[in-house]
Amino acid sequence: MDSIIIQGGGELQGQIPIAGAKNACLTLMPATLLSEEPLTLTNVPRLSDIATMSQLLQSLGAEVSSLADGQVVAMSSHGADNPVADYEIVRKMRASNLVLGPLLARHGRAVVSLPGGCAIGARPMDLHIHGLEALGAKIELKDGYLHADAPKGLKGARIALRFASVGATENIMMAASLAKGTTELVNAAREPEIVDLANCLRAMGAEIEGAGSGTITIEGVDRLHGATHPVIADRIELGTYMLAPVIAGGEVELLGGRIGLLESFCEKLDEAGISVSETKNGLRVSCKNGRVRAVNVKTGVFPGFPTDLQAQMMALLCTADGESVLEETIFENRFMHAPELIRMGAQIDVQGGTATVTGVERLKGAPVMATDLRASVSLILAALAAEGETVVSRVYHLDRGYERVEEKLGACGARIERVKT
Ligand code: EPZ
Repeated sequence: MDSIIIQGGGELQGQIPIAGAKNACLTLMPATLLSEEPLTLTNVPRLSDIATMSQLLQSLGAEVSSLADGQVVAMSSHGADNPVADYEIVRKMRASNLVLGPLLARHGRAVVSLPGGCAIGARPMDLHIHGLEALGAKIELKDGYLHADAPKGLKGARIALRFASVGATENIMMAASLAKGTTELVNAAREPEIVDLANCLRAMGAEIEGAGSGTITIEGVDRLHGATHPVIADRIELGTYMLAPVIAGGEVELLGGRIGLLESFCEKLDEAGISVSETKNGLRVSCKNGRVRAVNVKTGVFPGFPTDLQAQMMALLCTADGESVLEETIFENRFMHAPELIRMGAQIDVQGGTATVTGVERLKGAPVMATDLRASVSLILAALAAEGETVVSRVYHLDRGYERVEEKLGACGARIERVKT
């Protein structure tokens, strides 16, 4: 298992290229199952989660080729005849559940292992099941697998989600694209990744309106054709690296970044005294004057403050001037970075879904442990300005969602290296 060692101190100067969005790619790839013709994705991020999804699709009979040093994924599910998504692969990545809707639409049946809990929460699938049953599927849980059957195919329906679940919205959209008749999905998730999926499905011939609003209307079609689709920029990687020059000092240009992907996050940065400006090629970020102001953060569904940037924001607020309150409303256990930041000298009091951070002058480097994807990168951010050396262990968590983090930060002057342990 690799570790990453960071010597704190030293400003950052330079440019960081923003990769394609992991959370868009992980729903775009299963869409290949909806057509017998090839689907090619470009601007694909080079991440272990993408490799896991490729492995899963291959186990379902799809051909998946990674080209151009991993930035292009060419898929063909012409021969995909296996509707069973095996536990051995699914347990590695919750997003594997995004093959459920496509398998059901393609084969009229699907057997998908429940992903099992993960570090940040129980991650139930009741909303996915509710939506697909509304489309006519019979779904039951047996031996840890969801057995879904729709022998007569799927039929359009009006579906109202009690919570704007991203994954449930994606599974329902993909299944409804090949259902007979019209589906109206109410209280749908509005994330940019949902819009990207809709754009890809439309390029494949689907009839989808309203993606990005709370109500999505899908007119089912008999078949979808192939397409080539560019993955949108990763707004979570963008937000993460926007905080690096603020924490470490200096100025960095994030290539490919646009404020439109992160409006509520940028508003919060402005409140904290951080300047963000759009450049010809992306975003430029720097700290307007010295110490960051403490701010309160409450995560929410899009367009609210992204839960996937909560850990990174906490790393910033550990050395802000004053007391900040962070409220995590999306996942029930997403403060595991707090005890690790406390090891670095942070003052954080966690009570249930609320963390109160009292800013200190400077953190101190320490050996810390990554626990989940976003927690691990928050430790890297905190280490950039900490006094002395920080060793972050179990960085396989990091590699799931961040492409070559030590290269991107190292290119801007961070003293960071990966070691095999
Ligand atoms: C997606 O997960 C993202 N993953 C997550 O990013 C992200 O944090 C999350 O959306 C929220 O924005 C991918 O896109 C691959 P949800 P997803 O369904 O679809 C509850 C990262 O770090 N829920 O919107 O699983 C659930 O328990 C990852 O990149 C139900 O109760 O998120 C959670 O509390 C982490 N029943 C909340 O909704 C369901 O059927 C949000 O879940 C489904 C979800």
